[in-house]
Amino acid sequence: MKVLVVGATGQVGSEVVRALVARGIAVRAFVRADSKYTHLRDLDGVEVSFGDLLDPETIPPAVAGVDAIIATANSVSPRRRRDFGRVETVGYPALVAAAAEEGIDRLVYLSTVPMGEADATLPLSQHHRAVEATIQASGLPFTIMRFCAFSDVWLALPGSTLPQRGMSPTLFDRPFRFVRIYRALTGRTVDRFGRMVIVGSPEHRTAFITVRDAAAFLVAALDHEATRDAIFEIGGPEALSWGEVGDMYADLLGRPVKITSLPPGIFRVLGRLLAPIAPASANILMLNYAGAVADMTVTGNELAAELGLGPLERVEIFLKERAAIEA
Ligand SMILES: NC(=O)c1ccc[n+]([C@@H]2O[C@H](COP(=O)([O-])OP(=O)(O)OC[C@H]3O[C@@H](n4cnc5c(N)ncnc54)[C@H](OP(=O)(O)O)[C@@H]3O)[C@@H](O)[C@H]2O)c1
Repeated sequence: MKVLVVGATGQVGSEVVRALVARGIAVRAFVRADSKYTHLRDLDGVEVSFGDLLDPETIPPAVAGVDAIIATANSVSPRRRRDFGRVETVGYPALVAAAAEEGIDRLVYLSTVPMGEADATLPLSQHHRAVEATIQASGLPFTIMRFCAFSDVWLALPGSTLPQRGMSPTLFDRPFRFVRIYRALTGRTVDRFGRMVIVGSPEHRTAFITVRDAAAFLVAALDHEATRDAIFEIGGPEALSWGEVGDMYADLLGRPVKITSLPPGIFRVLGRLLAPIAPASANILMLNYAGAVADMTVTGNELAAELGLGPLERVEIFLKERAAIEA
């Protein structure tokens, strides 16, 4: 089997490539010519196909001869302001058309769980739902996996670098200035001062899932007939409150961790104000609002067992593992 990974240089795509290689599956990585991809080039069995979802002519050669596609590419952190949303509205229709022309056996797409009432207005969700609709209408065998918040990202945002240790590449390194500034502002308040800064209530629960587990789900979808033409909503092994996460940080750091809670409404208002001039940045603000109010407590334990995956990584274990990695 040969699998084309679209988004291979991203944080999830890179894990997908590693997981495929570990299983001895041939990989073709779809890579933009000016992307950082040396970490992929050195893996056994990985072939690089240069292209760009916004350059439709580059897509059919990348799809030629593959059996399946795992697509994680997105424009959440665009290089250029005008590209926000275009990967989803222009790139994915071209990819899906090329895949249909090639007659591939499976298209697996990484999406997000619906975010309650915020889903209808959050650009990120709108983009995902548009791609999902394009895929569903194509007649291609597909699997859509809608994930909850990633541990590697969302557990860092309240002010810690631990969840990102040893991770390559990280979302926060992407050339999108707003995310870098946002990350710098959220900083290291947990690590340095025992202060966790969250959006919304400390009681709000989320079923955080690691990027590695998400990649394992995406790869497992290739093997199982039960995943054909199906949409799944997948979280980690348990839905934790921020208060519980704070206790875990306190145990790890050996000091009390206090929580400062910011009102979610501010993020929604700022997002709406910024939307006309900086839609990608506004999306990040609105996403913070949505994450604080939406129900993202669905766990992935049953599906993991059905797909033959091991136990999903609990946050406590994940944080301990990352803390053990040299900073
Ligand atoms: N963060 C979370 O908690 C979370 C939870 C659930 C679902 N999700 C979803 O997961 C996805 C994020 O995945 P990620 O973290 O792996 O993203 P990422 O690290 O930002 O990677 C984005 C990938 O898309 C590629 N890409 C962007 N524009 C492209 C184009 N025009 N042509 C070809 N490739 C292009 C990038 O390539 P370059 O390297 O060339 O830029 C990169 O490989 C998003 O769709 C998000 O909504 C995230």
